[in-house]
Amino acid sequence: MTARIIDGKALSAAVRAEVAERVKALRAQGLQPGLAVVLVGEDPASQVYVRNKAAACEKAGLHSRVIRLGEDTTEAELLDLVRQLNEDAAIHGILVQLPLPGHMNTAKVIETISAEKDVDGFHISNAGLLLTGKPLFRPCTPYGVMRMLESEEVPVRGAEAVIVGASNIVGKPMALLLLAAGATVTLCNSKTRDLGAQTRRADILVVATGRPGMVTGDMIKPGAVVIDVGINRLPDGSLVGDVDFESAKQVAGAITPVPGGVGPMTIAMLLVNTIEAAERSAATMLPTTS
Ligand code: GUN
Repeated sequence: MTARIIDGKALSAAVRAEVAERVKALRAQGLQPGLAVVLVGEDPASQVYVRNKAAACEKAGLHSRVIRLGEDTTEAELLDLVRQLNEDAAIHGILVQLPLPGHMNTAKVIETISAEKDVDGFHISNAGLLLTGKPLFRPCTPYGVMRMLESEEVPVRGAEAVIVGASNIVGKPMALLLLAAGATVTLCNSKTRDLGAQTRRADILVVATGRPGMVTGDMIKPGAVVIDVGINRLPDGSLVGDVDFESAKQVAGAITPVPGGVGPMTIAMLLVNTIEAAERSAATMLPTTS
C-alpha cells in the first residue's frame, strides 16, 4: 500500500481564499487589516520566509509592512520599533522574524509585542492561554497541522498522537492542540529512549526535529497519518523533511510531502491569525447600541 499524499498547497490556497473573503468583509466596514513583519539582519532563509509572508498578505488583500533592519541594530532600537507598532492602529499583527542576531534577547523582544497583536502566538501570555485551553492565537505551524487533520477527516479524539521534537514553536504547542482535541499525546525529545518504540504506537505522528530523514518507514505503524514539519536544504540544493519520504510512504496511510505539505499551511495560518486580530479590533470599534 502507498500512502495518500496530503496536499498542503491546495489546502493552503483554500484557507487563503477564505481569508480573502473575510478581508473583503472588513474592508466593507472601513477596516483595512495590516501585518507588520520585522526582519533584522541578512539571514538568507529568513529573507525568503519574509518575502513569502508579505506576498501572501498582499494576495489576500491584507496590507503588509516589511521593516528591514541592519544586523547592527541595537536591542533598544528594535524594542522602540515594536512599541511604536503596538500603538499603530493600522497594524493588527506584528511578527518579528526569528532567529534574531545573537546580541538580542529574543524572549524580551517577543514579550514586548502586544499580546493582542502577537500573530505568531509566541508571547508568554498567549502560551499561557493555550496551555489553559483558552487560546487567543495558536502558533501558525501547529495550527496549520490541526487544519490539515480536520480537512483530511483524521479522527483525533481518542487517537494516539506522538510528536517528535519539543520546541516552543512547534512541538509543545502541537501537543497542547492535539490534547485539547482529545488525543492521547506523547511528546518525544532528543533524550527519548527507543524512539522507534514510541513512534510505532502513533496513529498520528508529527515530526519536527530539523534532522533530515530521521524517521524511517520501520518507525511507523502501518496506516498511520504522518505529518512532516521539517524543511531541510541538502548540500545538492534539494529540500527534504525530517521523515524519509520514500520508506515512510510504503507504510503510512497518509503523509505530508516536503515541499508542499506543512510549509504552505504555516503561511496560510499566519493570515488567519492576522484576520482574527483585525476582526477582534473591529468588534471593539463597533458603535454601542443603547
Ligand atoms: N522563524 C522560523 N519560523 C518562524 C515563525 O513561525 N515565526 C517567526 N517569527 N520566526 C520564525
